[in-house]
Amino acid sequence: MNPHSRAGFGLLNSLLLTGSVGLLLWGGVYVGKYSGRFDGNEFSELPYGRPAKIVGGGASADPLDAQKKAGLIAYGKSCVACHQADGNGNPSLNIPPLAGSEWVQADGPNRIIRIVLHGMQGPVKVSGQVYQGNAMNPWLKTADNPAGLTEQEIADVLTYVRNSWGNKAGGVTVDQVKAVLGATAGRADAWTAEELEKVPASGGGAAPAPTALTPDQLKEALKKLTADELKAVLDGVKPN
Ligand code: HEC
Repeated sequence: MNPHSRAGFGLLNSLLLTGSVGLLLWGGVYVGKYSGRFDGNEFSELPYGRPAKIVGGGASADPLDAQKKAGLIAYGKSCVACHQADGNGNPSLNIPPLAGSEWVQADGPNRIIRIVLHGMQGPVKVSGQVYQGNAMNPWLKTADNPAGLTEQEIADVLTYVRNSWGNKAGGVTVDQVKAVLGATAGRADAWTAEELEKVPASGGGAAPAPTALTPDQLKEALKKLTADELKAVLDGVKPN
């Protein structure tokens, strides 16, 4: 055999040897680290000593968990620069806090969805203090605003801010965001606090404009009431 090719095999052999020993060592370390003392029920991808996270932990699992996690990411991308990681805003720049805010923790999210979709301007009172002189930009992702947030991300970020820094309020669904978007189609201006105060905070985000009933429709509607309900309605419309 040609000595050169033998030398080539020698090199290959030592590479194979080193490779196999390396693999064996790695395997040993891996098993030692993750085997859970070789208990068949214990295999875990978590290194020893780190508590395993309970997955799908029954009644105590927070149904908003996934949305809060996604919301934290959206918050870091879109809100933290102004409202800060602790949710306290930046009063010296007239950026109001989200922590403890009555706007954030309102019964329903109809107003804060509008704020994130289209932005906010003008004076606003939060926790007894008036902020004015700064404005918030719109955050809906559109062709003109490609760095914005999707409807789902808006639901997530609002679920996050409604449940962080001691805030306690319900989650926000993507359907609620879509409903508000539908009800505000064509809106381009940032909202003022004054305008938003006229929007019910909770209830169907669509808040349809009230339509007047014809006398016949009104009669039909009144016929459906019980005697007591009818009396209450009539008492309510009696001229003083
Ligand atoms: C460029 C800075 C800026 C960014 C970014 C920003 N905001 Fe704001 N935000 C403001 C300012 C300023 C106001 C008050 C506007 C006014 O004076 O009318 C405000 C008001 C608010 C309010 C109502 C008042 C309150 O404090 O509760 C909410 C809710 C809110 N922002 C949520 C968000 C969320 C959620 C995001 C991220 C998607 C965000 N903001 C991103 C500056 C910002």
